[in-house]
Amino acid sequence: MKLPDPLFNIRPTPPPATTPRFIDLSDDVPNSPAARSMVQELAEGLSAKEASIAPKFFYNALGSRLFEAITALDEYYPTRTEAGIFDASHAQIAQTLAEAGLTHPCLIDLGAGNCAKAQALIPHLQPRQYVPVDISVDFLKAAAGQLQNSFPALDIVGVGMDFSASLALPDEVQEHDRVFFYPGSSLGNFQPTQALDFLRQMTDPLKGRARGLLLGIDLVKDSATLQAAYDDALGVTAAFNKNLLRNVNTLLGTDFDVRQWRHVALFNTEASRIEMHLEARQDLTLSWPGRTRRFLAGERIHTESSYKYTLESMTALLNQAGFSTLRHWSDPKQWFAVFWAAV
Ligand code: TRP
Repeated sequence: MKLPDPLFNIRPTPPPATTPRFIDLSDDVPNSPAARSMVQELAEGLSAKEASIAPKFFYNALGSRLFEAITALDEYYPTRTEAGIFDASHAQIAQTLAEAGLTHPCLIDLGAGNCAKAQALIPHLQPRQYVPVDISVDFLKAAAGQLQNSFPALDIVGVGMDFSASLALPDEVQEHDRVFFYPGSSLGNFQPTQALDFLRQMTDPLKGRARGLLLGIDLVKDSATLQAAYDDALGVTAAFNKNLLRNVNTLLGTDFDVRQWRHVALFNTEASRIEMHLEARQDLTLSWPGRTRRFLAGERIHTESSYKYTLESMTALLNQAGFSTLRHWSDPKQWFAVFWAAV
């Protein structure tokens, strides 16, 4: 047998791709108004009787990587299930958008992260413009650059910003035919009343200017399955949760010792939400510039909720927010749903 010529395998270096446009509206600039309000938000959360830290602070460079690892875990079914729904139904989804007159939409990907979901969807939805938005600026820049390699002709406008505060997008984002893409059940990370406000911003003709929304949302199921998805055997979710404390050390100047905290995830059936906490393993004093706070052993910091909806409760919420035409697709077990909601 003839061995392959090693030189034959050397691929020519691809031509340098155009770097996508990128607009950074994040709080990376020290002492900017955005950075100051972030510090204040963190300090208030940590000073409250029931301490909390907002989930957006999970996503520093390491946090984004750890979350990517979560999506590959056996226990974390949402990413896989959602991808399966898109895979099975992309033709119907594209058809539905086309019927709404959105054959080449401006696709705004909220919390785009590694852009993997858009990568799969773009060939089917054929957007005129693709706008990945994420708070994790450097991670998004790299991902948007790679996506540009896959789709050299696509107009990509990356935006680094905390969209949970406001959905006001920069002028570079096309105003017409906007379709918001909000997968991964991230809407479930808002409290239902905040979720409603957020959806209303999308439909607002002066703010989000959405013509439609493609939403991925996790559904209520047995609590053992839910709990395992947020407390995996390898401890990746625990690491992700605790990494938040390191990020807060950087941002606010706290002196969290990660080893003093334990990851806790539980399903609160009444509120229909997974709750993520960090629990003090011992009595301790936390300090940051200008303050200290005591935590007793067993005391918790609430770091995230992940609300689980039913097809009915999500339909009601979307209608309340001003979306009219609704369709949804689900997997055979009805574990997850993808909704199309037109304004
Ligand atoms: N949107 C995801 C969810 O609610 C985010 C997430 C998954 C997450 N696992 C997590 C957030 C663990 C914090 C900790 O499912």
